[in-house]
Formats: sequence, structure tokens, C-alpha cells
Amino acid sequence: MPIADHPPARGGQPMVEVDHLTRTYTPRRGTPVTALDDVSFTLRQGEVLGLLGPNGAGKTTLSRILTTLLLPSSGTARIAGFDVVARPREVRRHIGLVLGGDRGLYGRLTARQNLRYWAALQGLDGSAARARTEELLERLGLAARAGDRVETFSRGMTQRVHLARALLNRPAVLILDEPTNGMDPHSATGFRELVRELRAAGTTILLTTHDLPEAQDLCSHLAMVDHGRLLRWGTRADLLAEVGFARTVTATGVPAAARARIELLPGTVTAEEGGVLSYRPHDEDALAEALTVLAQARAAEISVTAPSLAEVYRSVIEDREFVL
Ligand SMILES: Nc1ncnc2c1ncn2[C@@H]1O[C@H](COP(=O)(O)OP(=O)(O)O)[C@@H](O)[C@H]1O
Ligand SMILES: [Mg+2]
Repeated sequence: MPIADHPPARGGQPMVEVDHLTRTYTPRRGTPVTALDDVSFTLRQGEVLGLLGPNGAGKTTLSRILTTLLLPSSGTARIAGFDVVARPREVRRHIGLVLGGDRGLYGRLTARQNLRYWAALQGLDGSAARARTEELLERLGLAARAGDRVETFSRGMTQRVHLARALLNRPAVLILDEPTNGMDPHSATGFRELVRELRAAGTTILLTTHDLPEAQDLCSHLAMVDHGRLLRWGTRADLLAEVGFARTVTATGVPAAARARIELLPGTVTAEEGGVLSYRPHDEDALAEALTVLAQARAAEISVTAPSLAEVYRSVIEDREFVL
């Protein structure tokens, strides 16, 4: 049975419409913080938006506004056509939320009890709640542990319970705020599989992540935010095109003579001690030439990396505490 079923509407209906959204936190003491500053974008059905930005950029604030947990200071947001302020109940019917962290589940209840409890809160009647709960436990690989208390679960399993909870009402829009944060690599891979499946089933997804390869892998669209401002927004291809011919050649054991030849090619060379070399060629020809030089010189560990989102990110987001 499919995990979700939202066949794409013709023309890709707008599912998340954010228009000049601003949110300022005004503490009782101290200066107000504008966590979101005039943000606008539209996400159409089946699109997956990767929301990237350093800590404090405003990502969770946006997630909370879209899920009706927080009111905007100005501007509007609509989910499946419903205004988050004027029509919160309809919005909640169309949306699922997975927040990073451990809040929202009852540790002393089992996975099954947690899901049934939430299903009841969402108004699913007894038999529908039971059926949907069992279906999700099965689909998310939780069936074997369904009768165990959630407090005994690993981080990866807990996140799957969170996702199951978010999927109870078959949401057309899913907001995932750092869902793989703190997961071991195996669990994170499984989680991404599920996101891909949801995307294929037509779910519209907003995914906040610090994992750039994950964003590059899963998302059709990307947004980069810092200090509450939307600095970049576009399709993945658009953003990668921004860095142009961004290949990096690296090698070790590069003799001085070979290094000298590469330094004459168009591009930038960074060399370290011990014959470690990194070269950013300007174009395809320079790349080919450098590879020939390195091969002839019998350099070791020669590799070429493709342009990555990490490079776009570095060029857009100012360097702060964020670590790639
Ligand atoms: N409840 C709050 N009261 C005051 N300031 C807040 C509150 N929540 C978040 N902030 C501030 O708003 C900014 C954006 O926070 P947040 O949306 O959590 O960013 P992110 O999720 O990108 O790390 C930060 O400067 C944060 O300190
Ligand atoms: Mg956050």
C-alpha cells in the first residue's frame, strides 16, 4: 500500500505560498529579533524544498508559522490554499510536521499507543485509527517494536515514530525540520528513502537540513536563508549552475615539477606539504591537461569532484559557526 497518495494536479497547484512573511520576537527585556524578514516563495505540488541556513537563520520559525504553531508579525502564508492565520484548522488537516528533537512523543507509551493517541486527537475514528496506525508501523519498519515504550528507542527509531505520527492524516504537505539530525548514517539513509517515496507519491515537502549532500540528493528546490532573509531560492539545477565549472582536482604525491606545470594552467592551485595538491581548473581543457600531467607524474589518489551545493552555500552564506 502506498505511504501517501497525492497524484500531481495538472499544472502543479501551489501548496505552500509564503508572501512577504516577517516574524519578530519581542522579548520582555532586550532587543527584538527579526527571525524572518520579508520572505516570499511558492512551492507547488510534489516539489521538495531544501531549506538551508546556519543556526538562528529563521528556519524553525518558518516551520512553526507554516504549521500554525506561531503567528507571523506580518505577511501571509497559505497551505493548500488555506491561510495559516485565518484557517488554522484546515491547514492542520493538510499538514504533517516533524520537528527535530524529542518533544511531542510520550516516552512511557509504546509506539503503537503514541500513534493511536495522535490519531484520536486528529479525529480518526477507532477502526480507521487502528488501521492507519498498523499500516504506518509496518511501512516505517516499526512493527517489530510497536509494543515497546518509545523511551527505549534509538534516535533513528524515534524519528520514524515522529514521521509516522506526521503521516497519520495523509498530509499533502510535510514539514521536516532537521529530521535526520543526530541520526546514525544507516537510519538517515532509511529516512531519506522514505522522503523519496513520499515525494514520488506527490507529497509536497519542506525539508530543513544541515546536511548539504542530503539536500542535493532529495530536493527539487533549494532556499538559503540567513538572518531571516531568503538569500537564494531556485531549482537545484539553477543553484548548481551558479558555481559554473566548479570542479576540483586533488592528488597526493605530486612531484614539484608536475605542480609547476599545473600552476601554469588556467585556474587556481593550492599546494600543501608532502605533494598534496588541489587545483580548480577554469575549464574542461585545463582539467584534462592537469589530469594528464598528474597521471604522467604518477601522482596518487587523483580525484575530481563535481560542483556541489556546499560550494553554492559557501558563496552565499557568510562564514559563522556553521560547520559543513
Ligand atoms: N521564542 C523565541 N523568542 C525569542 N527569540 C527567538 C525565539 N525563537 C527563536 N528566536 C530567535 O529567532 C532567530 C531564528 O531562530 P530559529 O527560527 O530557531 O532559527 P533556526 O531554526 O534557523 O536555527 C534566532 O535569532 C533565535 O534566537
Ligand atoms: Mg531550527
